[in-house]
Amino acid sequence: SAGTSSNQDLAGRRIAISAGGTREPLDPVRFLGNRSSGRQGVALAAAAAARGAQVTLVAAHLEVPAPSGVTVRPVSTTAELQEAMQAAAKDADTVIMAAAVADYRPATVEPGKIKKDQAGDRLALELVRNPDILAGLAAARTPGQLVVGFAAETETDRGALLELGRTKLARKGCDYLVVNRVGWHEGFAADDNAVIVLDAAGAIVGEATGGKVSVAHAILDVVSNPPATGTS
Ligand code: CTP
Ligand code: CA
Repeated sequence: SAGTSSNQDLAGRRIAISAGGTREPLDPVRFLGNRSSGRQGVALAAAAAARGAQVTLVAAHLEVPAPSGVTVRPVSTTAELQEAMQAAAKDADTVIMAAAVADYRPATVEPGKIKKDQAGDRLALELVRNPDILAGLAAARTPGQLVVGFAAETETDRGALLELGRTKLARKGCDYLVVNRVGWHEGFAADDNAVIVLDAAGAIVGEATGGKVSVAHAILDVVSNPPATGTS
């Protein structure tokens, strides 16, 4: 069965995975970021490599070490992550966007440090929307290429959570969406995770709770054995 490192069911597969959280600079010494630790994406990369896949890990500010045996491409901003994922996707059969991508970036990056004596008692930041990397990768995917996204949601009601996931899936156009509950104490920095995997039609095709490594294997079970199209 899947889930053990002796299982080589991903041998011959080439998987591009993004992990961590992007940072958007405000000035040379400050950035806007998020609380992603990179643990779930790193666990996915390690598990995929253990199952025989050739893995490229696009890594944005990981709080944990990158696994050995994978190709690591370090990035910082959303623009860098997009460029690295587009390049990695070119020779990947599977693309997994586990990174927490900044939805907005500062409209301007100050060339020098922002000073209090210029900004005064209040400072308003103007932000602009970043491109949706996942939607772009899904729209550009080649025949047979699988594109997997994550949905980070703070909704606690299961039905409402699934509804949010299905809406997001439709917006992204990806093959699978891993719905991931996050909160002050859940998701990001935690050792454990709880996910529901939806297919492109919104059906539940996987569900896992537990350590991020076992959750990673459950996600890869879906990726390793995608249901044939047109048979559901
Ligand atoms: N994502 C992306 N590019 C962005 C924002 C998100 O590729 N600019 C990807 C994430 O890596 C994840 C998926 O889209 O795989 C969903 O991210 P999430 O933050 O849950 O959804 P958003 O579309 O950003 O919507 P919102 O944050 O408003 O819920
Ligand atoms: Ca977002």
